[in-house]
Amino acid sequence: MRKKIVAGNWKMNNTLDEGLKLTSEIVNMISDEVRGDVEVVLAPPFIHLTQVNKLISGVDKIHLGAQNCNDNIQGAYTGEVSANMLASVGVEYVIIGHSERREYFKESHKQLAKKVDLALENNLTPIFCCGEPLEVRENGLFEEYVCNQIGDSLFHLHDDKFSKIVIAYEPIWAIGTGKTASSDQAQEMHATIREFIAERYGGQVSENMSILYGGSCKPDNAKELFACKDVDGGLIGGASLKSRDFTDIVKSF
Ligand code: G3H
Repeated sequence: MRKKIVAGNWKMNNTLDEGLKLTSEIVNMISDEVRGDVEVVLAPPFIHLTQVNKLISGVDKIHLGAQNCNDNIQGAYTGEVSANMLASVGVEYVIIGHSERREYFKESHKQLAKKVDLALENNLTPIFCCGEPLEVRENGLFEEYVCNQIGDSLFHLHDDKFSKIVIAYEPIWAIGTGKTASSDQAQEMHATIREFIAERYGGQVSENMSILYGGSCKPDNAKELFACKDVDGGLIGGASLKSRDFTDIVKSF
């Protein structure tokens, strides 16, 4: 069964007090109106994790996520946090390969593959991000570009491990720009990703895989995006910083 997931990626926003206030508001607003099969993930900055976890404990629908992990498990990597450290504070999901990390921190396919391995070894669910920049969208090679990102960092995994992955398709030209992909564009790419996965892992693995959309997803477009056959939820940036907008998106299923 494919999971429906709405994940809030706070990025580098919110002081601890602001983050806890936002979490409490979301906890209060996530009510019975939210469909039973929808999972909510909050991915705050590392320093918030422990305290956010306390606020969401006991709320079945809300899970803790992190925005990154290192591609080593321990050692002299100043400023970094490993997958087992995340697991030790109750993290269940970790975002890997976000386009901002690929761009600003020059993360390679090989490094991302290592992060995915370590996340899985520590029982974390990777939310693996992929997506093309504007010039690739415009030159028409976007399907090949995104499939290569997936193949290069994930296709070394055996079926049992691969089936634990969540994929987030985030066209870079739609991130934080207010310019969202149309539901047709999102559906087309999600279907392509699913087909590509089916060729390598078979129809059952591919059908069960959750593929999220990210990129200027807001309360006013979430319903249409989430109604697409192959869109199983969203990875939400800006709108996840406002409790009302985020919960409205969660309730768009
Ligand atoms: O991780 C979230 C995505 O980068 C989308 O961000 O909703 O601000 O466009 P956005």
